[in-house]
Amino acid sequence: MLAGWKRRWIGWRNGVIGNSRFQRWAAANPLTRTIAQRRAGGLFDLVAGFTYSQTLSAAVESGVIELLAAGPVSLADAGKRCGLSEEAAALLLRASAAIDLAQEVEPGVWMLGQQGAALRGNAGVLAMIRHHRLLYADLADPLALLRRERSSPTALSDFWTYAGEPDPAARDDCNTRAYSELMASSQAMVVEQVLAAYRFDRHRSLLDVGGGYGVFATAVAAAYPALNTGIFDLPDVLRHHAGESTPVSRQAPTLHPGDFFRDPIPTGYDCISLVRILHDHDDAPAADLLSAIHESLEHGATLLIAEPMAGTRGARKMGDAYFGLYLWAMRSGRPRRADEIGAMLNRAGFRDWRRVATDLPVITSLIVATA
Ligand SMILES: C[S@@+](CC[C@H](N)C(=O)[O-])C[C@H]1O[C@@H](n2cnc3c(N)ncnc32)[C@H](O)[C@@H]1O
Repeated sequence: MLAGWKRRWIGWRNGVIGNSRFQRWAAANPLTRTIAQRRAGGLFDLVAGFTYSQTLSAAVESGVIELLAAGPVSLADAGKRCGLSEEAAALLLRASAAIDLAQEVEPGVWMLGQQGAALRGNAGVLAMIRHHRLLYADLADPLALLRRERSSPTALSDFWTYAGEPDPAARDDCNTRAYSELMASSQAMVVEQVLAAYRFDRHRSLLDVGGGYGVFATAVAAAYPALNTGIFDLPDVLRHHAGESTPVSRQAPTLHPGDFFRDPIPTGYDCISLVRILHDHDDAPAADLLSAIHESLEHGATLLIAEPMAGTRGARKMGDAYFGLYLWAMRSGRPRRADEIGAMLNRAGFRDWRRVATDLPVITSLIVATA
């Protein structure tokens, strides 16, 4: 009954909004003009958004962001230092200013804008922007990507070897290193969110499953020095771990090399974390992983799941649009809503689960489950 009303109302509303006479009337009417302008601006942002991303990519890769961060720069200098003609530098700076990456502080003199300043302080996001070259290549024809067999190779599935190559023996060691470095550089913002939302002093030990180079486990151990930590990841990844991480806690995490789809999950930990792991995997293997983790945990122990989730208020563009397309192009996994993860946790045997709010769900959401 209610659903019928809702459909009729949305149908009527969409008919009105889509009517060009109504649009002209709303833009001209002083009472509705502001809303009409905001709506039209939003629509044109959708139309032109890919050029904003390309401006961002050019500003980062040309070195413009770094250059402006070092101090006010003239147009001529910006061009010379970034390998651009003065005309091209002017275009890039003006386009950057339009999306708040740059700001013309006096005629011909440029500094970072507010978004540029925020970006420059975030090494992880800068690394992701550089990495997006692969995603742009896969999305050159988005419909073709959606229509192709999902198992067809993509630039992203070549990069994320565990997603593209199911046989561990055939995986490329160089790519293991490349993706581990990318993850390590973007981990700081995730761990900050988790540490602000969840206290680990109720636990004796933490195993970070799929923990990569150990940035998460090391940061948690630094905040809670009494906690024993461990990392479980593929042997290729952990082989490089010692050279890549600088543990700041008294105890370095214990390394457990293995494949979580083939080997048992190490026991003896009273908390396990899955940070940016579950969404990488399709439903069947993700369910197997949760069951294996449940089996490894004592009754009453905790599982934390931290990753951007679909359907999250304030973060839907990131959860549903960005990660939806990203993971599709990666050929494995999907962003899930918290209640979908909750249902999977219950099926895997977890007694209960709850969502814990994070300050920036656009970076990560958090679920805490009890075995
Ligand atoms: C997206 S990365 C996340 C890394 C880290 N948790 C973070 O947030 O930075 C996924 C991690 O899972 C690991 N991984 C993927 N498949 C695995 C498997 N079958 N067994 C063990 N680790 C695996 C990868 O090597 C990688 O370190």
